[in-house]
Amino acid sequence: MSEHILDISMTVNGEPVRERIEARKTLVDFLREDLGLTGSHVGCEHGVCGACTVRVNGEIVRGCLMLAVQCDGAKVETIEGLSDSGEIADLQLAFEQRNALQCGYCTPGMIAAAQDLLIRAKDNKSVPSRDEIREHLSGNYCRCTGYHAIVDAVQAVAQARAGKTP
Ligand code: FES
Ligand code: FES
Repeated sequence: MSEHILDISMTVNGEPVRERIEARKTLVDFLREDLGLTGSHVGCEHGVCGACTVRVNGEIVRGCLMLAVQCDGAKVETIEGLSDSGEIADLQLAFEQRNALQCGYCTPGMIAAAQDLLIRAKDNKSVPSRDEIREHLSGNYCRCTGYHAIVDAVQAVAQARAGKTP
C-alpha cells in the first residue's frame, strides 16, 4: 500500500500545498476531501459533465480525469480562488441577474469554462458570438436552466468586457 502513497507540492489558489496522498486520487477528490475546496463538484466522474472543471497552469481541465499527483509542481485554481480574487465577479453577477443558475450544481464549472472563453477572446481582441459561447460551454451540462440564460449572461459579460453595449 505504501508504494502507492506519494508526496506532492503545488500551489492552490496562490497558497503552497504539500500533501502525502494516494497516487490514484483524482484532483477533484483531493481538492474537495483533503483541502475542503468543495466548490468544484463531482457529477459524472467520467469527464462528461464539466462540474469538476478547474484551472491547472492556466488551462481548464476535468478534475475527475486528472490525478492529483499529476499536478505536482503545478498552479491549480478553483472556483474559490477565482471568486476570491474578483476575477469572475462580473460573471457571477450576470449569472445571478439573468437567472443563469437554479440548483447551482453546474455553476462553478460553467463559470470556470466561461471565464476561459472570455480570456481567449480578450487575447484575440474578439467578442464571442452566441454560437461560440454555446460551443465552448458544450462540455458543461446543466440540468436546470435550458442554457439560454447562461448564454445570455456570458454574452453580456463578453460585450461589457469589450466595452460594447449589449
Ligand atoms: S465530474 Fe468531471 S466531467 Fe463530470
Ligand atoms: S443550475 Fe442546476 S445543473 Fe445547472
